[in-house]
Amino acid sequence: MNNDNKNKEKIMIRKYRYGNPFPTGAVACEIAAEKKEQTAFRLNAEGEFTLALAPEDCVYGLGEAVRGINKRGWHYESCNEDDPIITEKRTALYGAHNFIVVAGKKGVFGAFFDCADRVLFDIGYTDPDELRVKAVADFDLYIVEGKSAVEVVREFRKLIGDSYIPPKWAFGFGQSRWGYRCEADIREVADGYAESDMPLDMIYLDIDYMDHYKDFTVNKERYPDLKALAADMKKRGIRLIPIIDAGVKVEKGYDIYEEGVEKGYFCKDAEGEPYVVGVWPGDSVFPDVLNPEARKWFGSKYRILLDEGIEGFWNDMNEPSIFYSKKRLAGVLEKVASARGRNMPLEEYHGILGAIGTLANNRADYAEFFHDTPNGTVSHLSVHNLFGCYMTRAAAEYFEEYQPDKRYLLFSRSSHIGMHRYGGIWTGDNASWWTHLLLNLKMLPSLNMCGFLYVGADIGGFGDNTSEDLLLRWTALGIFTPLMRNHSTLDTRMQECFRFKDKKTFRNLLGIRYALVPWLYSEFVKSATRGDMMFRPLAFDFPDDRRARTVEDQLMVGEGLMIAPVYEQNAAGRYVYLPEEMKMIRMRSATDYEETMLSAGDHYLEIPLTETVFFLRKGHALPLAEPAKCVDALDETKLRWIVSGNAAEYEMYVGNGESKSELKTALRKLKVPQEKK
Ligand code: GLC
Repeated sequence: MNNDNKNKEKIMIRKYRYGNPFPTGAVACEIAAEKKEQTAFRLNAEGEFTLALAPEDCVYGLGEAVRGINKRGWHYESCNEDDPIITEKRTALYGAHNFIVVAGKKGVFGAFFDCADRVLFDIGYTDPDELRVKAVADFDLYIVEGKSAVEVVREFRKLIGDSYIPPKWAFGFGQSRWGYRCEADIREVADGYAESDMPLDMIYLDIDYMDHYKDFTVNKERYPDLKALAADMKKRGIRLIPIIDAGVKVEKGYDIYEEGVEKGYFCKDAEGEPYVVGVWPGDSVFPDVLNPEARKWFGSKYRILLDEGIEGFWNDMNEPSIFYSKKRLAGVLEKVASARGRNMPLEEYHGILGAIGTLANNRADYAEFFHDTPNGTVSHLSVHNLFGCYMTRAAAEYFEEYQPDKRYLLFSRSSHIGMHRYGGIWTGDNASWWTHLLLNLKMLPSLNMCGFLYVGADIGGFGDNTSEDLLLRWTALGIFTPLMRNHSTLDTRMQECFRFKDKKTFRNLLGIRYALVPWLYSEFVKSATRGDMMFRPLAFDFPDDRRARTVEDQLMVGEGLMIAPVYEQNAAGRYVYLPEEMKMIRMRSATDYEETMLSAGDHYLEIPLTETVFFLRKGHALPLAEPAKCVDALDETKLRWIVSGNAAEYEMYVGNGESKSELKTALRKLKVPQEKK
């Protein structure tokens, strides 16, 4: 968390203030607002910022969102929302990432609408040739200049501060499932991976580890001795990562609830009483994480699990998600009760269904409770998008206070730009659909632009039943994502890699991941400290290549790598576009692979389920470690190299990656061997 003003004088950013915005905390260095507006946008009578788009212009950004890498052709809204049906018709997902990059005919620039409330982006939806942006509340607009898209992002990242860097072990593979109920289930997963000779670094604890879904408690029947279990797992190289939910159970005698009520640390209704909603535990209240004192208090509660030997967390349901408010539920139940015994023609039946449909995440309920902020009491509705960010900040600030030099794993479902300094994100409740594999790929560069580097999706899909081929293909993409976690929901097909028939290929894929960890970790830290994107659209690296602008299913990764995963069922391979001559690496395992130079242009490549194919630009080298059962067991002194063309050296971050201070001395320039011809 290094949010100082470094490089301030070099920032190529202009700030314009509209009204008196609520400070979101997104920006890490203060810059003075300009008096005179001089942006590329025009402000129309509806208060929309408009910009004419030429046919070749591309609009990038918006972080976690549906649809393309190029966001043209659809409308989006930053309004953090818990809705697990992620289809193309959605306009908002779990995060608010109001940064776009416009690249095209007249050059390139970035625009950040720093607003606590909703921002609407109509990117050629109403009028294909026009971009329209409207913030519903006061905001700061930052216009970011640069010679290229890469440079614009770098400048923007200086403005918003350094991205969170997790411990190195968090680059291992993690297994999760909503449905592991007790210690025996956790041991079964650990044993399953070990017996199948597959590596594993993390097992996630979903809500069932808690006592009646009470935050910071452990169910003693299911987990009689969590500390001993965590210690035992750690000996095996596995960390346990518990979930923490936003809703705190209302229950007499539950210390966290009682303490929070006594101190006034929960969000309150208009009468000043804790506002009660229904979430997992039934009646629940939300910690007022926008109140610095309450935030400090909530953050300090993570200590309860740290004391059990826990070193990482995932924060969930922090849009915050509401199943119902007490008031609304009472009204709906009355309506339902009044239908008892009556004939139900269509309209009435739909009326009942409709009323039930208004229960969850109702904006009217978000207007019913308030935060005590340093800027006065504000309605939740006006700062809704900040909740998940501040909940995660609560934890990160506590970790910093408790163990200033230690790196903890922390990621969240809901987020806002600014949270990238405190933790990573996973992209929420996707499904076991092939389209979501591709969506996973498309979100990566968009998230990176907004500062979120430690990112990943639920591999194999969260909702619905996965299939072996989907999980194989998705894992083959997942080996490149910093957060690599297989997660699924209750009552779906068990999804752990060792449960499938082709164990050998899963073992090989995970082996490739572990062989790549020294590289992935190094590329990650370099991206984080230099303000670079680890994942980039092809057009960012090849701005003059018209064709590259249209590629929506390949990405540049780190320095010089390109990925082109297979994302269709029963596909025997795929077309890959090479903007220049590159080396193709075709891996069956981390030690069994072929290297072939391919010319620039289109290639149809056969890629069976058992192979992973990726590409290395000339002048680059890729270190490979010997696969190991966990990240801590990797030997980074014994590296094999894949070299493409003339590459002299590789900048590698070495060390166990557990402390923050280590980073200052961990960068090595390694000499690279000659290319094997
Ligand atoms: C939410 C989370 C999901 C988790 C479930 C139960 O749906 O997004 O990952 O498994 O809650 O906690």
